[in-house]
Amino acid sequence: MKNADFRQPRLSVRARTLGPVLVVGATGAIGSEVVRALLERGADVRVFVRSPAKVAALPARVERVVGSLEDEAAVARAVRGARAAFYVSPHDAQDERLSETFVGACEREGVRLVFAGVHADGRTRAARALSRALYALLMPHYRGKFRLAERVRTCRADPVVLIPGNYYQNDDLCREQLLSGTYPLPLRGITRVDTRDVGDAAARALLDFSVPSGAYALTGPEALSGEQSAANWAAALGREVRHAPDIHVTDALLDAAYGGRKALDFQKSYRLLGRYAAKVTPRELRQTEFLLEREPRTHAQYARDTVAAWRREEREPVAL
Ligand SMILES: NC(=O)c1ccc[n+]([C@@H]2O[C@H](COP(=O)([O-])OP(=O)(O)OC[C@H]3O[C@@H](n4cnc5c(N)ncnc54)[C@H](OP(=O)(O)O)[C@@H]3O)[C@@H](O)[C@H]2O)c1
Repeated sequence: MKNADFRQPRLSVRARTLGPVLVVGATGAIGSEVVRALLERGADVRVFVRSPAKVAALPARVERVVGSLEDEAAVARAVRGARAAFYVSPHDAQDERLSETFVGACEREGVRLVFAGVHADGRTRAARALSRALYALLMPHYRGKFRLAERVRTCRADPVVLIPGNYYQNDDLCREQLLSGTYPLPLRGITRVDTRDVGDAAARALLDFSVPSGAYALTGPEALSGEQSAANWAAALGREVRHAPDIHVTDALLDAAYGGRKALDFQKSYRLLGRYAAKVTPRELRQTEFLLEREPRTHAQYARDTVAAWRREEREPVAL
């Protein structure tokens, strides 16, 4: 798909056609989808994991490099010889230091870096600095994440920065509540996206060096409120689901699912998502469609697929 929004490629790294694509965070929400999308496209894949047991189900042809982002030598080993590299910034108090190690390794090795995470976008450095300052007021817990994304954006590794909206798959946490007829996450109305689409978009940027370096929003076709999300679940389940926003239920779900820093980050974010609304802009949708070369999945589709998966899991039609 051609798109006037995008400049010609600025290849500051060698467009390699050999070597595996390295994926960090392969056991996580986004990284696992990036691995799936790369394998579907026939790419050679190398994962960098702390625990190989967690990727035991991946095909044998996936190369495993075991190590932590805290270990510079292990990161250098993982990046060396890669054709391109995918990075997500974990919910970690040291997230800026960990990403610096990774970005530095990609710069030294001349490996294209594709990153997914929060980023304050803007056409110029000054515009982004202003936008970052505003976000820092609203989301002080992500101050470091906004800084590290700017470091990626301006690095010498031909970077592609993906800016996903709130994942549809965050709703997976609410299975029990949905089956009881309520949707508890507080959402005024925001951009949301399917993690499968994030994986597909990342795979394109990792494999196709004609994708220009820059930042790309990743979003579904429309902004979604809690009411609209609940309505999609109701349609998928074939029964009433009402939006019953409850920050205490949300906090408890996040603690039970993640705990620690990740739960804390999400709890702060959901307090904001319940208060502020944002629309999907035509530019954001164009950027998403450019990378996907198709329309993004809808939340209704995700809800239908998830209910079908629940039914398969139960091995018999679930009395939903
Ligand atoms: N959730 C959303 O709606 C949303 C929306 C937009 C952006 N984001 C951003 O997405 C990012 C998180 O991505 P995600 O959702 O894919 O995260 P995730 O599911 O929490 O996965 C994090 C991955 O990083 C790995 N990891 C953590 N620390 C590591 C270390 N020291 N060394 C090596 N690997 C390490 C984890 O491996 P282990 O299995 O070993 O722990 C895991 O594979 C965050 O920056 C967040 O702000 C999230």
